[in-house]
Amino acid sequence: MSVDATELTETAAALVANDKGLLAMDESNPTCNKRFAALGIPQTAEVRRAYRELIVTTPGLGAAISGAILFDETIRQRLVSGRSFPEALRAVGIVPGIKVDLGESPLAGFPAEQITEGLDGLRGRLEEYRQMGARFAKWRGVLSIGEGLPTRSCIDANAHALARYAALCQEAGLVPIVEPEVLMDGDHPLARCQAATEQVLEQVFAQLRAQRVRLEGMLLKPSMVLPGLECARQDSVADVADATVASLLRSVPAAVPGVMFLSGGQPAVLASERLNAMNLRHRARLPWALGFSFSRALQQPALELWRGDPARAEQAQQALAHRARCNLAARRGEYDARVESGTSRGPP
Ligand code: 13P
Repeated sequence: MSVDATELTETAAALVANDKGLLAMDESNPTCNKRFAALGIPQTAEVRRAYRELIVTTPGLGAAISGAILFDETIRQRLVSGRSFPEALRAVGIVPGIKVDLGESPLAGFPAEQITEGLDGLRGRLEEYRQMGARFAKWRGVLSIGEGLPTRSCIDANAHALARYAALCQEAGLVPIVEPEVLMDGDHPLARCQAATEQVLEQVFAQLRAQRVRLEGMLLKPSMVLPGLECARQDSVADVADATVASLLRSVPAAVPGVMFLSGGQPAVLASERLNAMNLRHRARLPWALGFSFSRALQQPALELWRGDPARAEQAQQALAHRARCNLAARRGEYDARVESGTSRGPP
């Protein structure tokens, strides 16, 4: 299959248009089960399906969400109506996407580090996902900060895998979301995360170029530049925003249409505040859209309300739609206490 560059560019542009963002609902079964177990929700394929149906049938979701990332199990399941999940998303103007990596394994020779699996047979899987309706894909590489970490070897191995994946996606007509995540765990200061993030992004873009990935037809999904979770100094929202934007400006080519952050375990409100500060303070000089592709920071409040009880589905949907609206406002630098409290719905 030859690359249809125009379609890729149009899909990528549609995913960042109108200040909307992406909803990551692609938790693998073990991750989804872990979140369910913490709230006493049964961990079965049917309950996972019901939860994902709750998400995609949320009234008004398409007003703030441009694309949703599904997991392999979900893209093969159906709603009670008989529709497939990609059909249900399309019907409300949301582009269906799919997680295509197979998770992390220990990197041989580097016991503290991980490499993402899933390149073998990927060409065939991408073709199948495209036939099922997916128009974009996601692959996550994970880097840890620690003594001597991340190593250059781990950065290179993950950057290479991300670039191989991205090239295969574009060949198959899927927009690749390139996700190098620098984890928050550790007691390192903000500056250490900033240095690691820049080193990682530099290698990711070097490898993307080496594998001839069209930058106009991809999106970057990085972590924000943050102090380690156990660091005594927790920097202000403004300092986090400034450090993150500085790193991105140094590392991300202007041809990339969008930078859509993961939330990485940040509290939902703090993730919105930090995204808002980046756009409020810097939007006018940014060459790319600065948006969101959150999982926990969009879903967690809704999941905690739902807890597997159908009687609370509507309340949970309202919480999800609210977080989506808050982050739409944050993309515009217009998120504040009034938007958060729901007394202002934010910009039209
Ligand atoms: P979080 O926003 O919960 O970090 O998840 C984003 C994601 O897609 C992880 O791969």
